[in-house]
Amino acid sequence: MGTDGRERIAADGSGSTEETSSEERARERIVQLRSIIIRHNELYYNADQPEISDADYDVLANELRRLEAEFPEFITPDSPTQVIGGVGSAQFSAVTHLQPMMSLDNVFDAEELERWWKRNERLLGAEAAGGVRFVCELKIDGLAMSLLYRGGRFERAATRGDGRIGEDVTENVRTIASIPKQMVHSNSDSSRADTPGMLEVRGEVFMPREAFEALNSRRREAGEPIFANPRNSAAGSLRQKDPLITASRELSFLSYQLGATPGGPEFSSHADTLSFLADAGFPVSPEIRVVDSLSEVITFCTHWQHHRNDLPYDIDGAVIKVDSLRLREELGNTAKAPRWAIAMKFPPEERTTLLKAIEVSIGRTGKATPFAVLEPVFVGGSTVSMATLHNEDQVAVKDVREGDTVIVRKAGDVIPEVVGPVLALRPEGLAPWTFPDNCPVCQKPLIRPVGESVHRCTNGDCPAQSLARIAHFGSRGALDIEGLGERTVQTFLDVGLIETVADVYELKNRIDRIGQIEGFGGVSIQNLLAAIEASKTRPLGNLLFGLNIRHVGATIGQTLAKAFGSMDRLANASADEIAATEGVGGVIAASVAEWFAVPENRDTIDRLRAYGLNFEGPAAPSAPQTLTGMAIVVTGSLAGFSRDGAEEAITSRGGKSPRSVSKKTTAVVVGNDPGAAKVTKAEELGIPILDEAAFEALLETGQLPT
Ligand code: IVH
Repeated sequence: MGTDGRERIAADGSGSTEETSSEERARERIVQLRSIIIRHNELYYNADQPEISDADYDVLANELRRLEAEFPEFITPDSPTQVIGGVGSAQFSAVTHLQPMMSLDNVFDAEELERWWKRNERLLGAEAAGGVRFVCELKIDGLAMSLLYRGGRFERAATRGDGRIGEDVTENVRTIASIPKQMVHSNSDSSRADTPGMLEVRGEVFMPREAFEALNSRRREAGEPIFANPRNSAAGSLRQKDPLITASRELSFLSYQLGATPGGPEFSSHADTLSFLADAGFPVSPEIRVVDSLSEVITFCTHWQHHRNDLPYDIDGAVIKVDSLRLREELGNTAKAPRWAIAMKFPPEERTTLLKAIEVSIGRTGKATPFAVLEPVFVGGSTVSMATLHNEDQVAVKDVREGDTVIVRKAGDVIPEVVGPVLALRPEGLAPWTFPDNCPVCQKPLIRPVGESVHRCTNGDCPAQSLARIAHFGSRGALDIEGLGERTVQTFLDVGLIETVADVYELKNRIDRIGQIEGFGGVSIQNLLAAIEASKTRPLGNLLFGLNIRHVGATIGQTLAKAFGSMDRLANASADEIAATEGVGGVIAASVAEWFAVPENRDTIDRLRAYGLNFEGPAAPSAPQTLTGMAIVVTGSLAGFSRDGAEEAITSRGGKSPRSVSKKTTAVVVGNDPGAAKVTKAEELGIPILDEAAFEALLETGQLPT
């Protein structure tokens, strides 16, 4: 210290004040970061009440590391970057680990991983580093645990604590079923047949996701505060004074490392220690892979980054370890972490951020959906600034309020969600959120019918609904009109070019007016008009989906098109006739019939017909309607029909083809390798059982064999 440029400039008084103040600012920030981090360590390790997500914690820790690297003169021995782990607590007695439990350094992408290994290669020398093998493991998001075995018997369990001294949680850990209380002697390898004198087995205690969900729903029902994530609930469950409570919490354990083994077996590779652990009865993750190149390590990491949600428990990354214990010894450790292992952290799936406001959006059928407006936050691989809150009850259950700090979660491709507020950070006086009385767009009242969870804007002319309806009409899956996105629709609505979906087909007569809108050139207008023209030939199912009929999604649209074969046949059908369609329930049928009964909608249909849209279904029934009113179940494989083909043969003749046998079933067609339950049920109910020949005769004549 004291000899670098910044110091001299400040000391002789000739340096710029800017330079001095940036140094001063760094020092202040370092002091501030340390106290924030120490406080969060305390909340995390001792109180089990973390106020920020792990990822936010990493952001703070990284900022501190960066500043200390830039201004090493400010590093103090008590900085969290210089001490291992968190702090101890008074509830459990202290235990000194035989071998300290180190933490891991983190990398966040393949480049950093490569740099980690380059550094190690330099330390080892190219020859020693060549042909190295890596063990790739999952980084389980739970609590590190050290289990001590003496003479093969489980003796003690301790948390990591500060790495040197942990807490004795033996009685609680004893309740975890997957932890062996007595090691198994392996006979497969005589060198390992003897159970060692003492053995420290390290691994992770965690709560599988299913157990976590079940625990939280029990707690919700009992009016108890819920845990934010499986890691917190595993920590909370381990910290119980009463082991019976821990026992009820369905904790699991996976071992991944040996600590000290005085008097125990010797190994030359990590992979060998893992097989030893597995042979001795310890659970070891089946996903662990031994590979011999860094590119395979990256493949492992990429795979699990994308498949993390296929696992029954949470992971927050992968851990890469050098396999050879001799090379490990050569590489050694830094003050905090081994050089021979590294954690590849995956993008966080949970972050905390500010809930700036709760607003309401109006959908195409008038549904009013509250959503969170968030301070943008990078989570689950993308920046999230909004998240749905679904409905009034969901907001109340989560008790999120404008001004709260909230936990935001985005797992894989799943849409982002607000998990809940961080109550400890709630500013005083925040009022609970209440659903607005009026539509934020047209100001007409929002109605929540009794017994429903959804509010609706009942004003059919609400501009927000018009926008959503027309944008949906042009969307993929519906009429698929490229260029007619939400923003364009909004512009056309604003200038009064269109009001309804049918108006879209008038746009070709309004080219001059479109041309006056900024941003619309000749080419984009021609492309849009061509896309609108092309939309006229879309299948009837797409059109039905595009019409914004409540409860008619893409699948129901296709089902109705297929069943009725034309727009007119559907438009003139009664609710009962529609409900007779396989897969269409009474609520949907009523909604469809009601929609066609509204004069404005009839008018839309007439206009769309006049514009030349396709009103014909994919399979207008051409086969004789021999099976009208019959329900034929097919089970097993038939020689002359695929599964879909048999179904098609039945439905195209006016019959239904349900998947299960009931009192209403007319006949059961039995092919090769049929479902035993279906045949038994048919026999019990006295329903005729047909072979393939009888089925063919039935299709043709509509007669059951006598
Ligand atoms: S090895 C010296 N392997 O990650 C090696 N740790 O950030 C120390 N963890 O405290 C640990 N899965 O709680 C190792 N397969 C794995 C792991 C793992 C999860 C946790 C463990 C450790 C933390 C370090």
